[in-house]
Amino acid sequence: MRKIQFFDTTLRDGEQTPGVNFNTKEKVQLALQLEKWGIDTIEAGFPIASEGDFQAVQAIAGAVTKMTVAGLARCQKKDIDRAYEALHQAVDPQIHVFLATSEVHRQYKLNMTKAEVLASIKEHVAYARERFEKVQFSPEDATRTDKPFLLEAVQTAIDAGATIINVPDTVGFTNPTEYGALFAYLIANIKSEQPIIFSSHCHDDLGMATANALAAIENGADRVEGTINGIGERAGNTALEEVALALHIRNDFYQATSNIKLNETKRTSDLVARLSGITVPKNKAIVGGNAYAHESGIHQDGVLKNPETYEIITPQLVGVQTNSLPLGKLSGRHAFVDKMQQLGYQFDQEETNELFKRFKELADKKKQVTEQDLLALVADQGRSQEDGCELESVQLQYVSNGHQGAVVSIIKDEEKQVASAIGAGSIQAIYNSIDQIFQQQPKLLNYEITALTSGEDAQAEVHVVIECQETNEKISGIGLDFDVLQASAKAYVQASAALKNRGVLV
Ligand code: KIV
Ligand code: ZN
Repeated sequence: MRKIQFFDTTLRDGEQTPGVNFNTKEKVQLALQLEKWGIDTIEAGFPIASEGDFQAVQAIAGAVTKMTVAGLARCQKKDIDRAYEALHQAVDPQIHVFLATSEVHRQYKLNMTKAEVLASIKEHVAYARERFEKVQFSPEDATRTDKPFLLEAVQTAIDAGATIINVPDTVGFTNPTEYGALFAYLIANIKSEQPIIFSSHCHDDLGMATANALAAIENGADRVEGTINGIGERAGNTALEEVALALHIRNDFYQATSNIKLNETKRTSDLVARLSGITVPKNKAIVGGNAYAHESGIHQDGVLKNPETYEIITPQLVGVQTNSLPLGKLSGRHAFVDKMQQLGYQFDQEETNELFKRFKELADKKKQVTEQDLLALVADQGRSQEDGCELESVQLQYVSNGHQGAVVSIIKDEEKQVASAIGAGSIQAIYNSIDQIFQQQPKLLNYEITALTSGEDAQAEVHVVIECQETNEKISGIGLDFDVLQASAKAYVQASAALKNRGVLV
């Protein structure tokens, strides 16, 4: 049976979602979870894009042990050199070189003739191949490129040493019939002495990204690119969890398998949702909150008689947990470490001490600490340490029908900084105080609050997205706390600190 390779670009294309920015520690955490999920190749970032991207790609290259680690590069020598610098110590490095081939991109974006595009592909793919065994080439906007020229571009890349050809539907324009036929055409017409892997890369502008990826597989693609939860530029990318489940459930039709460990699916999706701040819609296939809920009486009756009447996927198959965790305030360190190991985490002494302390604080306030609570603590721990900045305290003066006053204190580079301000509401007063500390005035684009579990004693998770008024750069922050105001302050401190420390984009 064929095996389809999974290429995850959550950390690169997924991070192009407006407002999403993962720090290095989070990227490593995500990469390790993706490795556990069974991803074959991870696109860890675009090393030339910023110092932060470079460091994250390098850190992932050093942390993962099984996956191939890829970095993106334009057809420019400085991009390829930078990718090599970031990746050469990976167990299995790969470069992903791209150049647009469609007329609209050539004419308006690149200002290049067809001949110049072909010459650039030849030169840069060959340059990349001198440094990498595995070279992937993508003709950007392939689905709007005239077919004979696309074939010429692909053949040029193969002749110059590309081993993987990715066919991007950059603007989500194609449909399954057309996209499948495009793979059949390219595969039938290329000439190569070595095996070439064909790969799909679809965007979801018309809601067909998963269907298009599956059509590519039906027509000879042995690799699928996408992101977890389908996050990405504009309407997003192919949701890899959907492809993995389609191959499994409809194995009779696709006759193909993958390395994906399906029971790690929900955990992977939850981690991406938490760290990206992009909440999964309730009706999202595979991982949405309602994906396994049966509402109507007729459906409930059928499922009670035999789940197969209305359920093609069991929640257990994708690792949806229904039971809570038997940990509470009397649980000891051993039980805590044991549970963390069951969840797949291993921490050093210092990290365990810090997490156990936070678990105890939470267990003092909350009767039952659930798996959701623990996973959120782990994710929060990674994030809050990153920018050398921590919320110390929030003090509020609340008056009904009046202006609110806040005093906020943070520890920044081991120094305490305090500021106070008023606001029309409590959150505004807190955020004005934090703006004074950082001496910046970002625009608050988005504020979302979620209760992690049910019950009055649930922890609050707050996501904010702020925008730098000068550069229009968008940064997100997450705060987790038992108290909603404290969680709100933590999220804003985190985003503000990241904005202050942000590297410069090329
Ligand atoms: O959508 C796209 O064309 C891309 C390329 C960089 C492969 O993301
Ligand atoms: Zn893309």
